Amino acid sequence: MNEKKLAGEKAAAYVQDGMVVGLGTGSTVYFTLLKLAERVKEGLMIKGIPTSKETEAIAIEHGIPLIALQDVSSIDLTIDGADELNDDLTLIKGGGGALLREKIIAYHSTHMIVVADSNKSVSKLGTFPLPVEIVPFGYNKTVQSLEKLGCRVVIRNNASSPFLTDNGNYIVDCSFGEIPYPSTLHDKINQIPGVVDNGLFIGYANKAIVGQENDITFIEN
Ligand code: A5P
Repeated sequence: MNEKKLAGEKAAAYVQDGMVVGLGTGSTVYFTLLKLAERVKEGLMIKGIPTSKETEAIAIEHGIPLIALQDVSSIDLTIDGADELNDDLTLIKGGGGALLREKIIAYHSTHMIVVADSNKSVSKLGTFPLPVEIVPFGYNKTVQSLEKLGCRVVIRNNASSPFLTDNGNYIVDCSFGEIPYPSTLHDKINQIPGVVDNGLFIGYANKAIVGQENDITFIEN
């Protein structure tokens, strides 16, 4: 069975009538979106806030009603994927380049459910290179400052030019190896001028739904 499909579809069951729902980005939450679209056709009344242009397009295509973040007082529940998650529900996100909008939406959400396949669940974070969104202005200086924190930095490319986020910024993927103190690293990275934000999500997720072969497991905070 497809672990992403199992986890993604299960999360859709937590969405209730009248909710404002943060719609995550990626190949796991894609299955949540399809399930939500089915439920909307059956009469579920929700308003979705997409975390990326990609998700916005999928939601529009499948008839999920949307609303802008600035037009709501809060978000009831956000469902999003992750590139790595540990038992504390600290996450690495940004593999798809959507980390900034994902973090803004997670921050304003009362609850966040992470959906993932079993490969994403790790005891120590850091095998997946940490995505960091940086502004293009003076980007090589920002890269040098990141390298001084002890990582190898790769500027993400789209064919031969830098990958551009939905916010017009670059993504650099930073290999630190094991990250024993995510909170300290998070703060050090974000103190560098030129860094917009990084893919460490600490204290946002309340629950993870992880596909495990033909079953699912839950991690709760
Ligand atoms: C987008 O930038 C990421 O944070 C995604 O949420 C993450 O990469 C999801 O991975 P999957 O595509 O494997 O669900």
